[in-house]
Amino acid sequence: MRRIDQILASLGYGSRRDVRGWIEAGRVTMGGVAVWDPGAKAEPGDLRIDGEPPDHPGELLLMLNKPAGRVCSHDPADGASVYGLLPERWRRRNPPVTSVGRLDKDTTGLLLLTDCSPLVHRLTSPKHKVPKVYRVRIDRDIPAGIEEIFSGGQLRLPDEETPCAPAILKRIGSREAEVTVTEGRYHQIKRMFACQGCSVVDLHRIGFGSLELGSLATGRWIELAINCLDIH
Ligand code: URA
Repeated sequence: MRRIDQILASLGYGSRRDVRGWIEAGRVTMGGVAVWDPGAKAEPGDLRIDGEPPDHPGELLLMLNKPAGRVCSHDPADGASVYGLLPERWRRRNPPVTSVGRLDKDTTGLLLLTDCSPLVHRLTSPKHKVPKVYRVRIDRDIPAGIEEIFSGGQLRLPDEETPCAPAILKRIGSREAEVTVTEGRYHQIKRMFACQGCSVVDLHRIGFGSLELGSLATGRWIELAINCLDIH
């Protein structure tokens, strides 16, 4: 049980002062009765605001098909972000909705967003080896023998001490491949190909753990059960 003003502020309804105004105006009820004390304790799901249940009182987990041109950063100075695709109220939640790892501005595809930070840590920890599957198009024919280099566990990226964990490359065209990695190093896929003299011209994530992007349209998101790919 938490303070009512704290609950509503954390769900993005407004500042503590805003929601206190709503409470004083009798707009917040519990069991059909107005609650007048902003400091009264409640379970979020028991509250009604203008007669409506609170907007997603529990934790959020979303799967977005990230469009190109949006960043995963929360800093407005970095440009348009993926968070701008979400309902405005969700952008004011605290803890904030954040991406599970990051995709580059020009990378498209499966991006998880959540306000559950322990879940972010579990899903991004290299210890858990969560597979991430990328469709990759490069600027030349895929070099011979690259499968063995990626899968060998000895590929060292410039300025990095530990080699990349084994990755699987499956050819799907002369310049296109599906690559599965279990880490999330900075610009990892682009740098793995750059080491082999190739530039990535198109990068699209289609899988994350047991999740597949499927036919989700670009820029759209769906809600997932918070424990749908939980990892312990
Ligand atoms: N690897 C990259 O190089 N970029 C991404 O966005 C994701 C993986």
